Amino acid sequence: MTAVDVRIYEVGPRDGLQSEPTVVASDAKRRFIGLLADAGLREIEATSFVSPKAIPQLADADELISSLDRRPGVRYSVLVPNRRGLERAIAANVDAICLFTAATDAYAQRNVGMSVDASLDAFAPLAAEARSRGWWIRAYVSTAFGCPYDGEVDERAVISVGERLLAMGADELAISDTVGVAAPTDVRRVLGALYGAGIRPDVIALHFHDTRGTAAANVLAAMEMEVRTFDASTGGTGGSPFAPGAAGNLATEDLVYLLDREGLRHGVDLDRVLDAARFIHEALGTPLTSKVGLAGGWPQASRPADRSSISDGQ
Ligand code: COA
Ligand code: ZN
Repeated sequence: MTAVDVRIYEVGPRDGLQSEPTVVASDAKRRFIGLLADAGLREIEATSFVSPKAIPQLADADELISSLDRRPGVRYSVLVPNRRGLERAIAANVDAICLFTAATDAYAQRNVGMSVDASLDAFAPLAAEARSRGWWIRAYVSTAFGCPYDGEVDERAVISVGERLLAMGADELAISDTVGVAAPTDVRRVLGALYGAGIRPDVIALHFHDTRGTAAANVLAAMEMEVRTFDASTGGTGGSPFAPGAAGNLATEDLVYLLDREGLRHGVDLDRVLDAARFIHEALGTPLTSKVGLAGGWPQASRPADRSSISDGQ
């Protein structure tokens, strides 16, 4: 892989689709994931092996993963909430999973049906098994900057969850602003606390929702503190049914534009991300409203949002 300054971890097919009112057909999801790989994205969170009753939007996960054209050099990760999910992941022959808990009990209870402590106890054997298979493990710490049920979150809660997830073998912590409340001062506070506890930036990814327009500022603040991995969702979709008040993730196209203008290498092509963004919004029947989706890139010939939809095989 060519050297990059920043890793973009794409969550569009998972976080992006899990709470949309429209269920996207498996074929369109496959095409979307293909367009993301075409754009140069090398880490794509493809779906969730969660309960189809909880997240009907991703109920086709087994079939989707099994029929995916998995490109060499691309890591396709999946969310796993429990033993049943792990077994589905084994059957689908994946090699990268994401466990997910939170910094607050109120959110963990609603999202994974357990307290934070209980979820960590439940994940430990799953992580051990994933490690024994040589899989890559990401672990989400949701509500790290604020909780829709508990309000402000103490950074010590983030540290203790993060430490336990790393101790059980997580390769990466996705420190998540699940609702989209953080501003740069919060980012510095939480990262400073994590570093103070000996958790280094190279195991940290940041996951921002752009609910209040602060995601790009948060990325820059985190980069000043050496974090190099950021989650983003092509088309700016995203949210959780258990996170009322959250808007979409930081849009991949907005992040790519920012990094391009900052002269940072990330390996992703803006025009092709915009193609994928238009494609998924067409599949959802929703307008593309990310900043760069509307305005296009500059000064290159990135096309504005009203360009007609792309067709298969293009
Ligand atoms: N895959 C498929 N089905 C699953 C499953 C999995 N990983 N885990 C549970 N189920 C099914 C069970 O079979 C059961 O089905 P039934 O009612 O037909 O018997 C039902 O879901 C409830 O299972 P239960 O064991 O009682 O678990 P739960 O209700 O405590 O569910 C979760 C806990 C976390 C597994 C479930 O709520 C879930 O998957 N939530 C989705 C969380 C999520 O994706 N959030 C957004 C991402 S941040
Ligand atoms: Zn999210």
